[in-house]
Amino acid sequence: MNFKTLFSEKTLGDLDLPHRIVMAPLTRCRSSQPGDIPNALNAEYYKQRSSAALIITEATQISPQGKGYAFTPGIHSAEQIQGWGKITDAVHSENSHIFMQLWHVGRVSHSAIQVDNALPVAPSAIAVEGQAFTEQGMLDFEVPRALELNEIPSIVEQYKQAAINAKQAGFDGVEIHAANGYLLDQFLKDGTNKRNDIYGGSIENRTRLVLEVVQVVIDVWGGSRVGIRISPTGTFNSMSETNPQALYNYLVDKLNQFNLAYLHVVERFGDDASEDFDFYELRRIFNGAYIANGGYTGQLAEQSLDSNQSDFVAFGAPFIANPDLPEKIKQGAPLNPADPDTFYGGDSKGYTDYPSLVDAST
Ligand SMILES: Cc1cc2nc3c(=O)[nH]c(=O)nc-3n(C[C@H](O)[C@H](O)[C@H](O)COP(=O)(O)O)c2cc1C
Repeated sequence: MNFKTLFSEKTLGDLDLPHRIVMAPLTRCRSSQPGDIPNALNAEYYKQRSSAALIITEATQISPQGKGYAFTPGIHSAEQIQGWGKITDAVHSENSHIFMQLWHVGRVSHSAIQVDNALPVAPSAIAVEGQAFTEQGMLDFEVPRALELNEIPSIVEQYKQAAINAKQAGFDGVEIHAANGYLLDQFLKDGTNKRNDIYGGSIENRTRLVLEVVQVVIDVWGGSRVGIRISPTGTFNSMSETNPQALYNYLVDKLNQFNLAYLHVVERFGDDASEDFDFYELRRIFNGAYIANGGYTGQLAEQSLDSNQSDFVAFGAPFIANPDLPEKIKQGAPLNPADPDTFYGGDSKGYTDYPSLVDAST
């Protein structure tokens, strides 16, 4: 297949990117303990993948409260900022670009992970199904505590401080994680947001927190260095929404006022219900770049770009197992399969030891 568009240049915000293949955010739970600090192994992993036009980091907790899984990195301490600095240096030494994904998990946490064993917080006191991955093993999720109205400014402040810290760590920009059932998504969708104050009920109210967060983050970075990730039809983390098209059409229209670099859309992930959703409507409404994600191959990505459905395509699992994914796609080389047993936690096995084409030929 001819990947003419996939390997053509394109600007993203004010960055000139050499092609259209983006590395999707991928949680790998391998930060140094104690302190959730990015380390040299993490730097090697990202450097290996720097042939991506843009790397989006694994989701990174903006505060201790924002943490939901054992061993995920943070961006709220001096040691973490320093650790990330080594990663941004490594990626920049390869002339690539890297954005940090800013993450608050909301209810997808556990008191065993929280400071002073506090309950996780959420828009409403509704538990997620399943179990949390903690340092003490898998524990049943608890009913979270609904945030008080007067606590919401402190959530917004956490995003602002994390955005400042990411800048200090040398990132090229940040992606606001409003997807996959975490705090901002919990506010957006009506299955998790049952509030009856100005942050719940109408679509206007449910999108309020996300828009407030975007505002403070662009105050730090400027719109051209900020993206946002959404998953309109996602059901991961027990999510549901009665009218996703109306909700996301409204949100994306409102996002236009910020002149963001990109809208990153998880179009499918796991067993979500995307058949009835028109992603092209979001693409049409949005005034920045559209990054498509979810189950793409090189061929599907080229088709999406060629038919003007997207500007960039992000690859998740394929990047775990193929550090040189763009070159493999270009050459039509077979891809290594990803091993789910080594996705979360562990050492270099299943992390930095996947062979690239160069390794295979030596
Ligand atoms: C191991 C693993 C970790 C992930 N971690 C994140 C994450 O930190 N943030 C996020 O927004 N999505 C995360 N995702 C979702 C991916 O970014 C992506 O949306 C999903 O894998 C679908 O894309 P793909 O078909 O190209 O893999 C993760 C997926 C996997 C498999």
